[in-house]
Amino acid sequence: MSHSPDSHPTAQACPAYAQKSISLKGTIQIPGDKSISHRSFMFGGLASGETRVKGLLEGEDVIATGKAMQKMGAKIEKVGDEWIIQGTGNGCLLAPDSPLDFGNAGTGCRLTMGLVGSYDFSSTFIGDASLSSRPMGRVLNPLREMGVQVEAEAGDRLPATLKGPRIATPITYRVPMASAQVKSAVLLAGLNTPGTTTVIETVMTRDHTEKMLQGFGANLEVHTDADGVRTITLEGQGELKGQNINVPGDPSSTAFPLVAALIAPDSDVIIENVLMNPTRTGLITTLIEMGGNIEVMNARQNGGEDVADLRVRSSELKGIVVPPERAPSMIDEYPILAMAAAYAEGETFMDGLDELRVKESDRLSAVATGLKLNGVKCDEGEMSLKVYGRPNGKGYGNESGARVVTHLDHRIAMSFLVLGLSSEHAVHVDDANVIRTSFPEFMDLMTGLGANISLEEA
Ligand code: S3P
Repeated sequence: MSHSPDSHPTAQACPAYAQKSISLKGTIQIPGDKSISHRSFMFGGLASGETRVKGLLEGEDVIATGKAMQKMGAKIEKVGDEWIIQGTGNGCLLAPDSPLDFGNAGTGCRLTMGLVGSYDFSSTFIGDASLSSRPMGRVLNPLREMGVQVEAEAGDRLPATLKGPRIATPITYRVPMASAQVKSAVLLAGLNTPGTTTVIETVMTRDHTEKMLQGFGANLEVHTDADGVRTITLEGQGELKGQNINVPGDPSSTAFPLVAALIAPDSDVIIENVLMNPTRTGLITTLIEMGGNIEVMNARQNGGEDVADLRVRSSELKGIVVPPERAPSMIDEYPILAMAAAYAEGETFMDGLDELRVKESDRLSAVATGLKLNGVKCDEGEMSLKVYGRPNGKGYGNESGARVVTHLDHRIAMSFLVLGLSSEHAVHVDDANVIRTSFPEFMDLMTGLGANISLEEA
């Protein structure tokens, strides 16, 4: 069977709730990593020749990136369990004849702005209400320095139309915030720019763009100085060649069954083939410091990445202070960490969370509001969160069925459904459909382990 990546329409909001669960048991495989899946479609779609991808995440975000690459000339189809991509060749993307719709996907949108923004034609970017409210200036500003003209909504929001110069100018760009998306957008613009594009990052963020571009044959080098400052140089206009890619399981999706198994009594769950790239494992380090019984088994290499199987058992967690410098390696995991903290003995303090305010939702506010709605005491600071834990979950949940507002944010929906697995009363969320953006198998995998999660009756 073969099909194109356009079979995942966004559906209407669908409320759901979770209730006390015991004995989560089983062995599961988590779907592919979202960051690597986006890049597989992008780099495969750009490289010359054929790229084959196994284990690709088929969430709505990644599918949107696949559709955008098709509009720019890549041929993409699924044959059996493999995605097969025929790329255009570096520098040979075609002008899209309609707007590129990235739905909810910040990574797809921002990286593609870099990938195509430097081309001497127009491309228009649109997205859902969440993506349209997120700041794009962080990517558009360095692209402007490279000669890209931009028309965007006030505050550099979507919709935005980009038009590259005849020949883009290579730049040296110091990334002002800890952002892999900004780093990547500049590097990807550099692929279509003569000369050397340089990106300096003072705080290391996920390095999938660097590693994968090297794998595709780009002339990219990374130098790290004594203070940990990374200087990444890329020679533009080189050849990229199609690759075979095996996408490991997503550690950010792993976080949900992992925390569920820690907080639900008498649980013992094995999660196989999890990406253990050190730029992504901050949550596991933190949960182990909190007393989480997490065994890292069969540590091995898969396609140039560290992977392992994780055995997770119910644990008595204790509150800790999470070092702020760990934030980039667990940036998407703070919502679910806050749920674990709700069941820990004592206080958990998380700081350095300014970037959480500009994710799919203002996650700091969404988490604090949802915790309070469900009887968990917390203090929301400008860029910090303190959670006062209560291991037995007494009084947690919302007896009257009031729903957590998820603001089109998949991780808010999944986090609060996990909170409900050990709470006295049910925890309700206003929309479980958003989960499809990153983890369409969430409901089935969780209920398969024994989690008590249900959709509300229509
Ligand atoms: C991502 C980078 C991070 C992360 C996002 C995926 C990536 O965003 O939150 O889910 O694949 O590059 P920022 O670069 O904005 O921190």
